[in-house]
Amino acid sequence: MTLAEIESLLDKSFAEARAALAGAANPAALEAARVQFLGQKGFLQAAKKSVGQLASVDDKKKAGKLCNDRDRELQDVYQANLDRLAREARVAELAQRQDITLPGRRSRRGHRHPLSTTCDDILAVLQGLGFEPAEGPEVEHDFYNFEALNIPRDHPARDMQDTFYVDAGGAEVVLRTHTSPVQARAMLAAGKPPLRVSCFGRVYRKDDDPTHSPMFHQIEGLYVDQNVTFADLKGTLQLFAERIFAPGVRVRLRPSFFPFTEPSVEVDISCFACGGTGRGGNVAAEDGRCRLCKATGFIEIMGAGMVDPEVFKACKLDPDHVTGFAFGIGVERVAMLRYGISDIRLLYENDERFLAQFP
Ligand code: DAH
Repeated sequence: MTLAEIESLLDKSFAEARAALAGAANPAALEAARVQFLGQKGFLQAAKKSVGQLASVDDKKKAGKLCNDRDRELQDVYQANLDRLAREARVAELAQRQDITLPGRRSRRGHRHPLSTTCDDILAVLQGLGFEPAEGPEVEHDFYNFEALNIPRDHPARDMQDTFYVDAGGAEVVLRTHTSPVQARAMLAAGKPPLRVSCFGRVYRKDDDPTHSPMFHQIEGLYVDQNVTFADLKGTLQLFAERIFAPGVRVRLRPSFFPFTEPSVEVDISCFACGGTGRGGNVAAEDGRCRLCKATGFIEIMGAGMVDPEVFKACKLDPDHVTGFAFGIGVERVAMLRYGISDIRLLYENDERFLAQFP
């Protein structure tokens, strides 16, 4: 073949090869075109073979370059179509697997735990009354947990709250049994009245039954100033009870004992299930007795009292010049009452069937 013949061979077949490679509508057709035009028996190979037989070096160069250019162009066309067909196959496959007419999958939204909700509500009420949030450690010195609160060593008052003792190399350290140690810390830190703090946190006891857990949560309130009276305590408790439970609930104070308050009271509220009558309501037994208050008409919700002078002394305040009140609320107990939960352990198990009931 002469150079002219090679050129005409390339020209003649190039357009046809290009159209076949670009236009193949499926992988089989594309492969057939590749074999036909780019394969060993294709026109390109034939042309390349003829290049070697050309007499002039110049012609060889020209023809060789022409062959290579055409080859590269057609390889590109082939590769582009190969990619396009693979993409189309993938899209078709996905379309078969996905039904875009199906409704979407909703992602489920979580919500606050009933204990958190209860705690937030209580702290919001206290904050509205001017109680500033305070904090203390859960692993606490015996001094703050007991001693400063007028619970001396070897005194029977210690029996009210047994707890877990921490081996701290000789130091007397316990898992705090209540949030009351924060009272002592707050008074010592402030140094002088007025002082109005609230504290939320975990506390620990050697308890474990359907209504008591070895770990639970309390909220403490402390108000110290000149001339704070028992009437202030009562007014605060009344407002608190109405905000947290229901408007119109009545507060009843029963004489009690806590080493850190004098006088001390147990705070009851009129039963919101039976309206304080002890009978009827939505949780009444078959004989009509209210199960929530055990037919007494009242439910105990917290301990409270006027800060004991001994506590002021231990906290470097002068009991002749300051007075104060304090109270301690079990958060689990309030949550159980509000939501009608009978077993405290449900609050810690994170069973979704249970939690989903408190959106
Ligand atoms: N700390 C007490 C307890 O855990 C509750 C309590 C009672 C706290 C009376 C007080 C209080 O601040 O004045 O049982």
